[in-house]
Amino acid sequence: MPPWPASNFVLGERRAYSRDDGTPGWDALEEIVGGLEGGSSISFASGMAGIAAIFEQLPTGSVVALPDDCYQGVAGLAQAGQSRGRWTVHCVAVADTTHWIKMCGMADLIWLESPSNPLLTVADLDIICAAPRKRGAILGVDNTFATPLNQRPLALGADVAVQSVTKFIGGHSDLLGGVVSVRDAKLLAALRQARELAGATPGTLETFLAVRGARTLALRLERAQRNAMTLAERLVRHPNVAVTRYPGLASHPTHEAARRQFRGFGTIISFDVSGDSRAADAVCAGLQLLQHATSLGAVESTIERRASVPGQEHLPPNLLRLSVGIESVEDLWTDLDRALRNAAIG
Ligand SMILES: Cc1ncc(COP(=O)(O)O)c(C=O)c1O
Repeated sequence: MPPWPASNFVLGERRAYSRDDGTPGWDALEEIVGGLEGGSSISFASGMAGIAAIFEQLPTGSVVALPDDCYQGVAGLAQAGQSRGRWTVHCVAVADTTHWIKMCGMADLIWLESPSNPLLTVADLDIICAAPRKRGAILGVDNTFATPLNQRPLALGADVAVQSVTKFIGGHSDLLGGVVSVRDAKLLAALRQARELAGATPGTLETFLAVRGARTLALRLERAQRNAMTLAERLVRHPNVAVTRYPGLASHPTHEAARRQFRGFGTIISFDVSGDSRAADAVCAGLQLLQHATSLGAVESTIERRASVPGQEHLPPNLLRLSVGIESVEDLWTDLDRALRNAAIG
């Protein structure tokens, strides 16, 4: 699929104007991600644009159930809507399945993120999606961390699955994009209308890059999650690491749910450096190969102290979130081990 720069089309055929009717480029991205998620898709300018279009569906006075650990942008969007009187937010612990089941009967939007960002708690999505829902409710899952290759929320019974294409689908830290996938044609039409009215459309170059990125998603994921498993197993034993979270570890609190629901355990690890925030900052500063950078899901490994991010101050101050890339695992370990040891000395 080449880049398809077009706002206007000759009238009389399928399309008139791209904001309303899409472009062949957007169609290609939607077909790829929708095919992987097992639904019909609509592409947006970013993951957040797609998520905002979902929240936009809620009538005033709605109830929103939100994970207590989730992407801070979504938490910010939910809080902003609450403070304007649009809806009320109920925070639910990701692993508290009983509470989620209760919220399914009460909430108009049940929003899940699994594994969660950055504590990597895996929700019992299969059980929660099967619980009876309030009439008209939407159950949405941010599937960005798992990718549709490792988890398919629509097949479990979710109404909506979201990908921030910015992350794994694009895979090279060079674009912003989002795709929302659904099972219901009416919801798809409503989301298309939300995109049309708000104008949060994907860019031509970004769409081209996302489609190109998707072609190597499976290969990148396979390599990166193999790297992640090796690093997680070594981090657990490292003398300067206090806690290691990775859903693939048997010691992970929600490992059983991960085994049940994931085809692979993903590429994100979060771990607490022994010591305080200064020790964790020193690790980031001491790395040479791993990039001290935000975001995730790219070919290069990135690491960040999450409590330093606005809206994430409640997290352990020494928690580092590591997105493992496709580099040589021994090069990654050499860099990480050296930075951890030097931080402990400093
Ligand atoms: C889990 C998750 N969902 C959604 C988003 C938002 O995506 P975007 O930056 O493409 O708007 C992010 C961004 O970091 C994310 O990590």
